[in-house]
Amino acid sequence: MTSPAPRSVRITGWGRYAPAQVLTNADLERMVDTSDEWIVSRTGIRERRVAAADETTASMGAVAALRAIHTAGLAPDDIDLIILATLTPDYWMPSTAALVKEAIGNTRAPAFDVAAACSGFVYAYATASAYLAAGLAKHALVIGSELLTRFLDYEDRSTCILFGDGAGAVVLSASEEPARPVGIELTTEPQGAYMIWLPAGGSKSPPSAETIARGEHKIRMEGRETYRFATRTLASTALHAVGKAGWTQDDVDLIIPHQANIRIIEAVAKGLDLSMDRMFINLDRYGNTSAASVPIALAEAVNEGHVKVGDRIVFVAFGAGFTSGAVALEWTADPMRGRDADDAVRAEDVKVRLPLDWDSVDPIPPALAEVLARPLPGHMDLSDVVPGEPEHAAHPVGR
Ligand code: ACO
Repeated sequence: MTSPAPRSVRITGWGRYAPAQVLTNADLERMVDTSDEWIVSRTGIRERRVAAADETTASMGAVAALRAIHTAGLAPDDIDLIILATLTPDYWMPSTAALVKEAIGNTRAPAFDVAAACSGFVYAYATASAYLAAGLAKHALVIGSELLTRFLDYEDRSTCILFGDGAGAVVLSASEEPARPVGIELTTEPQGAYMIWLPAGGSKSPPSAETIARGEHKIRMEGRETYRFATRTLASTALHAVGKAGWTQDDVDLIIPHQANIRIIEAVAKGLDLSMDRMFINLDRYGNTSAASVPIALAEAVNEGHVKVGDRIVFVAFGAGFTSGAVALEWTADPMRGRDADDAVRAEDVKVRLPLDWDSVDPIPPALAEVLARPLPGHMDLSDVVPGEPEHAAHPVGR
């Protein structure tokens, strides 16, 4: 039997999920020695989202996945491959992808996780794309989901200000239509292995009272080295992908970069000789959501009208490893299709099954729980204020 001919691969669905709870720079000022001015000027981040105690990487990923499937006009069981990128899985095993598969009601797809830190979504996309092009699947779900706020050191001001929670997903579909140009580039530079890492919990240093006492279950990062790697690598990785698609950077309509730091994105724009209006940015609202960053940004860019059919777009990311990845592709789907996905798939209707005889400890780090529980002085919750009834507005509350 001959192998099936390579097929063209297109994005047919996209979706995102961001938890409701917001952690602002002012909240962080109450936890570590920092300021809104420092965080905004050095990173561009103003706020980030924090998952609630009953949310997990799988539950957020499942919501984003169902929204992407809705956008694609498919049913969950049309999906025949599920790949989820994360550095914050629900458990070491099973894979978070397996939990998502059950939560979305899929019975057919093999499901597995990909670990490439913040580049994870691009790595997962490349993997799914190769499966589809080889004829091994027809509709693949590619998810990036992260719950980073449970792995941060809230005494380390250089890391805890950067990260947030959320999930994004795309459906990739094989098509018999003529292939459009596409370029994919992935890199790994292991000399950066210990520049961003989480020391304990793995086989080198299994969890113990001692590893916990040493604070080794939290993310550590050499910020300056990581910054140098990112500014050195992102533009060149994007350029390689653009070259493989047969374009030059002048052909690119929109870059969707990993949302780590506005200064890094400015350096990428400079490296590519593109103006900032060709860079999509939402890090001011979400911070760095690692593997979820690119798919959240993609879904927002499309839903907000920044992408039209025929546009040439590039996703590009970097992360621990050090890894980097970029995809250059021509957009083919009707951008309007995703507009009602958030209403059609409500987070409260999506459940990840829990074991019958086990419950986790309270997952929220105490320092974070304390700040989220305490209202900011002078802050007003206006959510239940009825317009025209000012007497209801005068009660101070939290957020
Ligand atoms: N508030 C106030 N001061 C701070 C803070 C803060 N939150 N954080 C650090 N500082 C201080 C430092 O202590 C230092 O003080 P010192 O000069 O007295 O020693 C000073 O600010 C300058 O520190 P730098 O590290 O040089 O600050 P920089 O301008 O490089 O910004 C940052 C730090 C934001 C972390 C930057 O290096 C960066 O963005 N690096 C890349 C990080 C990143 O993107 N990581 C994600 C990787 S993706 C993944 O796979 C998880």
